[in-house]
Amino acid sequence: MDEVGRIYGDVGLGRFQLSLNRPVERGDYLAVEDELHGPVLCQLDDLRRKSDLDLERAEALVHGADTPIHENLIGIVQIIGYRESGGLVKVPTIPFRPGAKVYQAEEGLIAEVLGLKKHANSGAYVGLLRGHSLRVELDINTLFQRHMSVLSKTGGGKSYLLGVIVEELLRHHVTCVIIDPHGEYGSLRFASDKNGHSERFHVDAQGFASRVLEFSPDPTLNASAKPLTFSLRHLDPRDLLVFMGLTNIKNFLGPLRKLLEEVQAGSPDYTVKDLIRAAERGEGGILDTLHERLEYVDQTRLLAPQGTSLAELVQEGKASIVNLRGVAPDIQELVVARIASTLFESRKKGKIPPLFLVIEEAHNFAPQQGTASCSRVLKTIASEGRKFGLGLCVVTQRAARIDKSVLSQCNTQLILQVTNPLDLKAIAQSIEGLTPGMTEMIQGLPVGTALVTGGGYHTPLFCEVRPRSTRHGGESVRVVPN
Ligand SMILES: Nc1ncnc2c1ncn2[C@@H]1O[C@H](COP(=O)(O)OP(=O)(O)OP(=O)(O)O)[C@@H](O)[C@H]1O
Ligand SMILES: [Mg+2]
Repeated sequence: MDEVGRIYGDVGLGRFQLSLNRPVERGDYLAVEDELHGPVLCQLDDLRRKSDLDLERAEALVHGADTPIHENLIGIVQIIGYRESGGLVKVPTIPFRPGAKVYQAEEGLIAEVLGLKKHANSGAYVGLLRGHSLRVELDINTLFQRHMSVLSKTGGGKSYLLGVIVEELLRHHVTCVIIDPHGEYGSLRFASDKNGHSERFHVDAQGFASRVLEFSPDPTLNASAKPLTFSLRHLDPRDLLVFMGLTNIKNFLGPLRKLLEEVQAGSPDYTVKDLIRAAERGEGGILDTLHERLEYVDQTRLLAPQGTSLAELVQEGKASIVNLRGVAPDIQELVVARIASTLFESRKKGKIPPLFLVIEEAHNFAPQQGTASCSRVLKTIASEGRKFGLGLCVVTQRAARIDKSVLSQCNTQLILQVTNPLDLKAIAQSIEGLTPGMTEMIQGLPVGTALVTGGGYHTPLFCEVRPRSTRHGGESVRVVPN
């Protein structure tokens, strides 16, 4: 083992200071030999160069004086622990001795304590432990039971990483529904044409053409998608009010029910236009409002006598993309509300297989402030979905703007670069075991490196995201050629 330095000063049970005799990087894994338990895994959380150079001598340096500087490289080290024979990770209960040697940790110890393997293939393989060849694989059952969030600033690599996760879910025959506001996920059909670092990561290019379904409320704009519509006759009058954007149920429910009874008596395959005509025949302020809102619903073209069936939308082992590109925000909310509540109710009754619901740009669908028609059902899924095999994944570039109760239910978090102080605060508040050093490191993460917490791991770890085996649909647009 290579010695990197010695413990000095007061030694705590969770952290200690280290005088370094050779440089190590922040985030590197270190080891200390404990008298009772053998090697204990630690991690460098912060680095500082201490010197005796004061202001006066620094000024003298500026004026050309020759003054000797004594300096030391010191580190703040977080103790992670050792794996005891029962399999649990424990931290020694007696502090290490000052003067004890600190080593660069060997890969075997890192793998054992963090619970990583070189060749496992049981979970969702998202990448390699930063600077190592150990695979970071998320436990798929944990993702379902404890939900997941993917957070970073814009361009941080969220959609790319989520693409990696969906590839893995498809490889494991897990059913997914992806709410895709920018139309980025249809490219999961095609094999990647980039081979970046594939050799190190052992990733082969592979498309999922036969396992990807795509739907859109606006198929004219999204040619690869099938039309997404909802059945008017299967819609509860309360849900129809949601589509109409009417929240005052008390005033409108009765009159709307009457209209529905009237048109249902005429034909079971009635249309929105039939409802509009029935509203025109009546008189009064309430019917005028119903008429106006039904016209609006008609324009959205979301309701049809025969809507997209559940069996068409959700198919076992396939990823269904709900492409909302070009769809107005209020309609997007309605679509998400309707799909999320149908999936939740259908899972409760066991009508569809267990599935993973991914919501991109989730701050728009479950905002912390203001309202969205789909907020309530997403909160319910976040708190109750796990009981029914409905896993939720929220993706957002504004951690501070997403509903806190939703974010706090996401116990697996994949965090890429975040610089906004409010977002960092929201993240720090929602993650256990995040050290001050890690919070600082999140601000400087390069594209393609994520901090992974949860997912079956008891310690947050930095992961180099593996290359995609499919094409990424969210490439940044180049305005001028390179
Ligand atoms: N792991 C990675 N390896 C290589 N390139 C990556 C990786 N992650 C992201 N990129 C590149 O970085 C750019 C931005 O990535 P991505 O579209 O995933 O960002 P985002 O976080 O989803 O942004 P936004 O919030 O704006 O949607 C893309 O051009 C993508 O190809
Ligand atoms: Mg994105």
